[in-house]
Amino acid sequence: MIPTLEWLPTGVNFLDQTKLPLEETYVLATDYKQVATVIRDMIVRGAPAIGVSAAMGVAIGILRSEATTIPALNAEVVIICDTLAATRPTAVNLFWGIGKIRDLYNNLAASGTSIPEIKEAVVAEARLMYDEDIAACKQMGQFGADLLPKEGTVLTHCNAGALATCGYGSALGVIRAAIERGHKIDVFADETRPFLQGARLTAWELMKDNIPTTVLCDNMSAHLMSKGRIQAVIVGADRIAANGDTANKIGTYGVSILAKEHGIPFYVAAPWATIDLATATGEGIPIEQRAASEVTHSNGKQMTPHGVAIENPAFDVTPAKYITAIITERGVLRAPFHESIRQMAEMPEPE
Ligand code: MRU
Repeated sequence: MIPTLEWLPTGVNFLDQTKLPLEETYVLATDYKQVATVIRDMIVRGAPAIGVSAAMGVAIGILRSEATTIPALNAEVVIICDTLAATRPTAVNLFWGIGKIRDLYNNLAASGTSIPEIKEAVVAEARLMYDEDIAACKQMGQFGADLLPKEGTVLTHCNAGALATCGYGSALGVIRAAIERGHKIDVFADETRPFLQGARLTAWELMKDNIPTTVLCDNMSAHLMSKGRIQAVIVGADRIAANGDTANKIGTYGVSILAKEHGIPFYVAAPWATIDLATATGEGIPIEQRAASEVTHSNGKQMTPHGVAIENPAFDVTPAKYITAIITERGVLRAPFHESIRQMAEMPEPE
C-alpha cells in the first residue's frame, strides 16, 4: 500500500508528492501549523487525503496544546480550525475533516470530559477517519468496477488514486477493482498541466501496481477518442454540488464534453464526504487560484516570456449533464442527480 500519510507517535508523516516521481521522501508534521503548510504546498493533495490530513491536523493541534482549562482550549481550537481551513478552498473534504474533529471536540468539551480524555478521543477519531477512507475507496471499487469495460482503455485526469486518498484511490480504486475482477484495462493518464498530477503521480502509482499506463498530453484525448481508442473516462472530485455539478482538476470539464460528443461514458468516483449538500449548483463552488509560477515555470525552468499575464485556476466545474454516473461508497448515483443525491442523503448512514 502506498503510504500517502500516516499517524505516528511523533506526528503525521506525509509522502512528499511534490518530489514524486523522482524522489520518495517524507515530511513529518509535528504540529497543526506544519500540517497546514503541508496541505497548502500540496505535499499532500487530493480531496479525500486533504480531508483526513486536516482532521489529523486538528487532532494534533489539540493533542499538543498546553491549555489547562476548557475555555483556554476552546480558544485554541478556533485558531487551529481557522488556520487549517485557510489552506485550500475548493475540496469540501477539507472543511468536512476539520468539522468532524471540531464537532467531536465541542461535544466532549461541553459534556465535562477531561482534557486528557478529549485528546485521546480526537486522535482516535482522526485515525478512524483514515481507516474509513480506505474502506470507502474499496467500496467505491466494488460498486464501480463493472461500469468499466471488460476490455479497453480508460482515460483519467489528474490523480484520484492512492496518493489522493489514504490508500487504494477513488477513480483509480475503481480501475484497480475492475482489474482485480479480471477486466483487461489499459489506462491513459492525462498529464494534467500545470502541476502534472497525471504525468508524475498517476503514472507512478499505476506503474507500481503493474497497471498498463500511457501518459497523454492534455490536448490529445479528442484525437484518441475520435479514433475509438478510449472506452470510458473516470475521474475523482473535489466538491459535488447538490445537483451533481462536479468540481475537479482544471481540464476535467473539457474532457467531459469530449466524452459526450464521442458517446463515451464519463464517471466520477468520490466518497460521500465530497458531496456538498449546502451548495446548490456548481456556480457556488469556490475555485482555487494558484500561483502564476506553476504555469510560467516547469521544474524550475522558465517556459514563458518575462511579464506575460497568467491565469491559473486549479479546478473547473463539470455540469451534471455531462456525467454518466457518480460512484460513492453508498452506491451509484444517476441522473437526475438532484433527486438521486437527495434520496441517498435521506437514507440512514451505513454502519
Ligand atoms: O490540486 P489537487 O492535486 O489537490 O487536485 C486533486 C484533484 O483534482 C483530484 O482529482 C480530486 O481531489 C479527487 S482525488 C480522489
